Amino acid sequence: MAAHTPWQRNRALAIVESYRGQRGTLLPILHDLQHEFGFINDEAVPVLAQALNLSRAEVHGVISFYHDFKRQPQGRTVVKLCRAEACQSVGANRLVAHAERRLGVTMGGTSADGSVTLEGVFCLGNCALGPAVMVDDQLHGRVDTVRFDSIAGDIR
Ligand code: FES
Repeated sequence: MAAHTPWQRNRALAIVESYRGQRGTLLPILHDLQHEFGFINDEAVPVLAQALNLSRAEVHGVISFYHDFKRQPQGRTVVKLCRAEACQSVGANRLVAHAERRLGVTMGGTSADGSVTLEGVFCLGNCALGPAVMVDDQLHGRVDTVRFDSIAGDIR
């Protein structure tokens, strides 16, 4: 995963400023902020509210609505496990329990050393080859516990 810039208010303001004069810019700005910093810092909320003439609650609402927007720093590696029905029917729940034990992180959490985030997602578009797992941008299918250990071997 690419290294992210530590939160800087001035850098966030420059991103907001780059959209000046355009309409409907909240989502693209949020994407840019997440791309730059790796997550949406709480300090960005009042910055966006003021710049876009929105309430803080409106900005919060949009960030919370889209699960892709992260409120906390993510691990250097992000492991996504599909928890949707097709993958559940072929052992996703067992795999989740195994992944939590193997990585020492509970679902939705990030390890204390920042090496890995474990995230449950609903469908990775690989339903015929479940259980499906994505490690950073790499998709894996038919992941059983043995395969998971081999995929996770390099993490941490
Ligand atoms: S249900 Fe798991 S990839 Fe679609």
